[in-house]
Amino acid sequence: MSSVVVAVDGTSGSGKSSTCRAVADRLGLRYLDTGAQYRAMTWWMLAHDIDVHDAAGVAAAAATPVIESGTDPLGPTITVDGTDVSVEIRSDAVNAAVSPVSTVPEVRSRLVALQRELIGAGRIVVEGRDIGSVVWPEAAVKIYLTADPSARAARRALENGADDAERIAATEASLLARDEIDSGRAVAPLTMADGAAHIDSTHRTLDEVVDLVVGLVMETA
Ligand code: C5P
Repeated sequence: MSSVVVAVDGTSGSGKSSTCRAVADRLGLRYLDTGAQYRAMTWWMLAHDIDVHDAAGVAAAAATPVIESGTDPLGPTITVDGTDVSVEIRSDAVNAAVSPVSTVPEVRSRLVALQRELIGAGRIVVEGRDIGSVVWPEAAVKIYLTADPSARAARRALENGADDAERIAATEASLLARDEIDSGRAVAPLTMADGAAHIDSTHRTLDEVVDLVVGLVMETA
């Protein structure tokens, strides 16, 4: 397990963050949330009034913000130009804009370089959409985590303190819209990487999913 890299990809809201943080904590590994980096880039674009649907404008600005990720699974941090944006990057505005921003190749190449720098030191659980396929195909363990859209929406709405039917329906629509853009984009689309183990979390508790992933890491790494 000396330099193990665990790559966890999957659809929006499938439980990647909770799973990865718990797995990293149990195994004494670091944790990297690449979605938070795409969100931080998006937050910065919105804060600078850049039209997120203008790919050329987004591409031209992509090199400017300084994005830094902390990798402690018990308290991961994300800063842009030195400001902690952990809360701001979870807003509805960022939810709606992050997938368009993430289709821009200049955004991806900038963030993939940051990710490879952090992963290079090893001993890390990394979550995203393209980790096992593009960012770190040599990962010792690759997981593809999914769940039914209604289960994902109910969990996500609950996390955000809202469990009324209207809010759950809006959350499901937002998750599905992101999945569609993430799966259909030309560069690094969401896909199950070669050699990945598919885990469906719809009818499993968080602990059950964590046990499965920890088992795979112990077997493989
Ligand atoms: O993981 P999370 O849902 O926070 O990711 C937010 C968005 O960031 C995704 O919907 C996707 O558009 C983008 N993303 C990506 N590649 C990654 C991680 C996230 O394109 N490796």
